[in-house]
Amino acid sequence: RIGAIADRRGVQAYAIGGFVRDYYLMRPCTDIDIVIVGGGTGGGIAVAEELGREVKSKVNVFRNFGTAMLRVGKWEVEFVGARRESYRADSRKPIVEDGTMEDDQRRRDFTINAMAFGLNADNFGRLVDPFEGMEDMEAQLIRTPLDPDTTFSDDPLRMVRAVRFATQLDFRIESETFAAIRRNRERIKIISRERIAAEVEKIMRSPRPSKGWRLFDESGLLELFFPQLSKLKGVDTVRGRAHKDNFIHTLKVLDNIVPHADNLWLRWAALLHDIGKPRTKAWDERVGWTFHGHEVVGSKMIPGIFREQKLPMDERMKYVQKLVFLHLRPIILSEDEVTDSAVRRLLFEAGDDVEDLMTLCEADITSGNDAKVRRYLANFALVRRKMKEIEEKDHIRNFQPP
Ligand code: CTP
Repeated sequence: RIGAIADRRGVQAYAIGGFVRDYYLMRPCTDIDIVIVGGGTGGGIAVAEELGREVKSKVNVFRNFGTAMLRVGKWEVEFVGARRESYRADSRKPIVEDGTMEDDQRRRDFTINAMAFGLNADNFGRLVDPFEGMEDMEAQLIRTPLDPDTTFSDDPLRMVRAVRFATQLDFRIESETFAAIRRNRERIKIISRERIAAEVEKIMRSPRPSKGWRLFDESGLLELFFPQLSKLKGVDTVRGRAHKDNFIHTLKVLDNIVPHADNLWLRWAALLHDIGKPRTKAWDERVGWTFHGHEVVGSKMIPGIFREQKLPMDERMKYVQKLVFLHLRPIILSEDEVTDSAVRRLLFEAGDDVEDLMTLCEADITSGNDAKVRRYLANFALVRRKMKEIEEKDHIRNFQPP
């Protein structure tokens, strides 16, 4: 139907990107990206509006971006006019001009995402693949159509996407492409956490998420966007007794939990379970490597107080996971479930930054459905109220951990 509309309007239509890639990989897919050539930058919107009238579906138009989106049955179809993009070094916003089909394919992230199917009557179903995406599909390679420094500098999120596709599809990142990620890694700092998180979430949903975390580590991206995890690396040895590398251990735990955890949050818990350990890890002459400031009395170990009363901000991220558990419970918590001692512990461990951490968690949950978000906010409100009460009740700074 899209091809017929394009024929009538004297323009060319192509399906491009994930739809074509997933067709060959036989992966399920529910979105189609359509590129219209010959109708100017607004050409995609015009065809979308005509299709919307034909199938009686509402069209969402984003004039600023020159794109339009509509639903047709199970499909979410997005239209754009073929474009050429160029970027200035000081801005993430591209300069957009009319382009040919090849210009449009060149501006895309990877060769396997730059393949297109013709939709007009005279080329229906024909593969248009000027950047040899099909060869890379066969070789299972992630490679950029342009030189990789340009592709990654234009949109640094693509470095994370390279790792995401390599993990999801179990492909390899081609060596020049990988070297460019290492060179351009600092650019990731201009990308918002939300956009990175959306890609990372797809890694966490993969059959073997550890592959992505290893690639993040090897590319140098990990210490830039997730230093808390990167700090788990390394093995300390004292008098021949080595402590396990917590990074490798964490990745094992993560992969092991996958078959048992459709629930994404369990996978996150596996990834985060050791964060914050390095700072409290200590060598004790009698017991070897120990955590939590355990002290030896006679032959027994008794938990002592935390060695560091005020952990630095990074380490306090550990306690974010406690908060996450608290607010991700699938129910609205009741007064007596949020016990005084749980809140005291939270206040003690997270210290002055507890408000910041709560805000961080709240920002993290906006992707859920409305009922979920309401539930979380109700739980947060309850924890906050308890915090206030407790702060009024005792002087938190003199407080000993329960
Ligand atoms: N794209 C790009 N650069 C980006 C994001 C997207 O070049 N930073 C292009 C790619 O051609 C990609 C298409 O836009 O195939 C659609 O992007 P998106 O929907 O994010 O990814 P898909 O390839 O559809 O993959 P998935 O469905 O797994 O998200």
